[in-house]
Amino acid sequence: MTLTPLHDDLLFNGPLSSYRADLLLRSLGPLDGQHVVDLGCGWAELLLRAVAAGATGHGVDQDAEAIAHGRKVAVDRGLADRVTVACSI
Ligand SMILES: C[S@@+](CC[C@H](N)C(=O)[O-])C[C@H]1O[C@@H](n2cnc3c(N)ncnc32)[C@H](O)[C@@H]1O
Repeated sequence: MTLTPLHDDLLFNGPLSSYRADLLLRSLGPLDGQHVVDLGCGWAELLLRAVAAGATGHGVDQDAEAIAHGRKVAVDRGLADRVTVACSI
């Protein structure tokens, strides 16, 4: 049996649904012109959704594989010019 990498099966690197993520983002108010920093961003799904809603963003995580995945997703979604993600180790 072959197991796919964790991030191929999950949207978030944690127990968070899309519904709950959208509620969290809406609770922040309008994001246009805001800068969001996510410390421990995983593969940055939540941060990328904040950026898609109008913010710019920066995420850091100690997991280099997660950061690489987040960077790829940012490019795939056309958000790479407004978000940076970096490995903290
Ligand atoms: C619950 S996950 C984050 C989920 C993420 N916000 C998302 O949208 O999917 C927590 C993250 O914190 C990171 N982390 C924990 N301790 C850290 C540390 N000291 N420095 C950097 N990252 C850390 C872990 O590698 C993990 O990716």
